[in-house]
Amino acid sequence: MKVYFAPMEGFTDAVYRRVHHQMFGGAEKYFIPFISPTQYDCLTPREKAAVLPKYNKNVPAVPQVLSNRSDTFLWAARTLCDLGYAEVNLNVGCPSGTVTAKYKGAGMLRDLDTLRVFLDEVFTHASLPVSIKTRIGFADPEEWAQILAIYRQYPIYELTVHPRTRAQYYKGKIWDDAFVQAQAALTIPLVYNGDVFSPQDAANVLKTHPDVTLMLGRGLLTNPALARQLHGGQCLSVNEVSQFHDALYEEYLAQYPKNIAVWRMCDAMKYLSLAFEEPHKCVKAMRKARSEAEYLNAVRCLFSEHPLRDAPYFSPAL
Ligand SMILES: Cc1cc2nc3c(=O)[nH]c(=O)nc-3n(C[C@H](O)[C@H](O)[C@H](O)COP(=O)(O)O)c2cc1C
Repeated sequence: MKVYFAPMEGFTDAVYRRVHHQMFGGAEKYFIPFISPTQYDCLTPREKAAVLPKYNKNVPAVPQVLSNRSDTFLWAARTLCDLGYAEVNLNVGCPSGTVTAKYKGAGMLRDLDTLRVFLDEVFTHASLPVSIKTRIGFADPEEWAQILAIYRQYPIYELTVHPRTRAQYYKGKIWDDAFVQAQAALTIPLVYNGDVFSPQDAANVLKTHPDVTLMLGRGLLTNPALARQLHGGQCLSVNEVSQFHDALYEEYLAQYPKNIAVWRMCDAMKYLSLAFEEPHKCVKAMRKARSEAEYLNAVRCLFSEHPLRDAPYFSPAL
C-alpha cells in the first residue's frame, strides 16, 4: 500500500513537509499546495518558497498547479520540469468560491467542453507527466460519468479522486460508488482521498478498493504518525508530538521573525491539538498569546495536562 500526504494550503508548507518527512516518514509523496501562476510567466516569492528544490531537499515533493489556461499550465509544467520535478499535478478539486467563480479548481467541472479543450492542449504539449486531483462533480454526483468519459481519453499519470462534489466542500457523504465507477472505467493508477482518519478507515477503504493508494489530509495533520502506522509502525506518543512541535518551531524561527513563527505554529496546532482531550482552552491561549513565553506555556500545558484522545483523532465534527 502506498500513502501520500495531501496538499493542505496554509499547513503543509516546505518547512512542515521537511520536518514531517524527517520525523515520521510513511508518505511516498508530499503534494505541494497549489501554485496559481498568472499570464506573466514568473514565480512569485511565495511560489518559489513552495517549489524551489532547495526548500524540498530529500522530500519526495510533487508540485500542484491551479489554472484553467493551458498556456499558463504548460509554462508552469516546463518551469517545474526545469527545476527537476518528475510530475506535475493539476488541481480540479479546490471548492473555494473565489476559485470556482473563475472556473478554476473544482470550477473546471462546471464546463466540461472547456475542460476537454484544456486537457487536449495540456496532454499534447506537457513536458512531464501530468497527474490530476479531482472531485466527482460540481453540484451533483450524477456528473461523474461524463467527467470520467473525458478523463479516460488522456494518459493521466495518476488520478486522485476525492469522492465528493464541490457543493459538499469537505463534509457529508463520500460517494464510494463513484470510486468503484472510476475503477471500472479507467486503467490508470487511482488514488483514494477522503475521510481516512485511522487505520480502521484505511482498512475499510482497502477492503472495498484493494490496491489503491491512499492520500491523507486532515487525518495526517492531526496524527502525523498515521502514514507510518499504516505501514505497521508505531502510533503517536505525546513525547513525539512535543518533539515535532519543537522541531517545527525551530525551523520556522530560522526562517521568520518570532511573531510570524508563532503564528505559523498556531496554524499547525489547529489540527495537531485535536489529537488531545479537551484542547480548546489551550488552543485559545496559544492564539491569544502576546509573547513567545505565553505561547509556549499554553503549548506545554496542552502536552503535559491533556492525554491523547482515543483514535481516530480527527473527525469532521470537531
Ligand atoms: C485547509 C485545507 C487546505 C487544502 N489545500 C489544498 C490544496 O492546496 N490543493 C488541493 O488539491 N487540495 C487541498 N485541500 C484538500 C485536501 O488535499 C484533501 O483533498 C481534503 O482535505 C480531503 O482529504 P482528507 O479527508 O484526508 O482531509 C485542502 C483542504 C483543506 C481542509
